[in-house]
Amino acid sequence: MRIVVLTGAGISEESGLATFRGAGGLWEGHRVEDVATPEAFELDPETVQRFYDARRRAVASVAPNAAHQALARLEQAIGDDLLVVTQNIDDLHERAGTHHLVHMHGELRRARCLHCGERPWWDGDLVDRPPCPLCGQRMLRPDVVWFGEMPYDLDVIEEAVVACDVFAAVGTSGVVYPAAGYAAMAKAFGARTIELNLWATDAPLPFDEIREGRATVVVPEWVDDIMGSHA
Ligand code: APR
Repeated sequence: MRIVVLTGAGISEESGLATFRGAGGLWEGHRVEDVATPEAFELDPETVQRFYDARRRAVASVAPNAAHQALARLEQAIGDDLLVVTQNIDDLHERAGTHHLVHMHGELRRARCLHCGERPWWDGDLVDRPPCPLCGQRMLRPDVVWFGEMPYDLDVIEEAVVACDVFAAVGTSGVVYPAAGYAAMAKAFGARTIELNLWATDAPLPFDEIREGRATVVVPEWVDDIMGSHA
């Protein structure tokens, strides 16, 4: 049985990381378009770098939760038949033990060099314009996909989505494309689709099943059910 799990900010919320469309639509006090667009970076690189530096530090101070761990457990059971596609830029899935993972919106723990194009691992701050470890130029930006930019690994994701038997969306509001279209795509290709969210997202609903609740509760329960039916 091939399974694709799409995750969003909701899976990391109980680890202590803010979701995007929470309180007043602000992300840690910022409008998304002020910190998550190429235009914002061009206009005020320092604010954008400081913002992501703070996010990087916040991620380093939190731990994966029972939902991340449940998905790692599922991978242990079915191996590469599970692909986790995350929109999250934190590294909580990998710290929980998931390996077969795509970060479609990039990763806080990488920088991207605007001079040489490399994507080195990066744990420190970027605001002071450190040199790229590969080419030496001081042109590093966060390796995150901003609005108007192309997400990573769309070919890998779409191949898995059309071929999967089960598609689950966990903790995502389903408003940012292309991720928001994957449930409908999976369903059109014959997969059983399920949404795991605090509250069911708005219509039109491409889901066969909806389980409402906190990710740390509903994801482990769903994984237990899947593994029970797989045994
Ligand atoms: N358990 C389960 N679901 C939760 C929890 C929780 N503890 N807390 C919040 N949620 C749900 C909310 O109901 C909401 O549907 O998680 C979802 C979070 O939605 P968003 O904040 O919009 O996050 P996401 O869907 O990941 O955003 C997509 O938007 O700004 C861009 O690039 C950014 O990757 C991000 C993309």
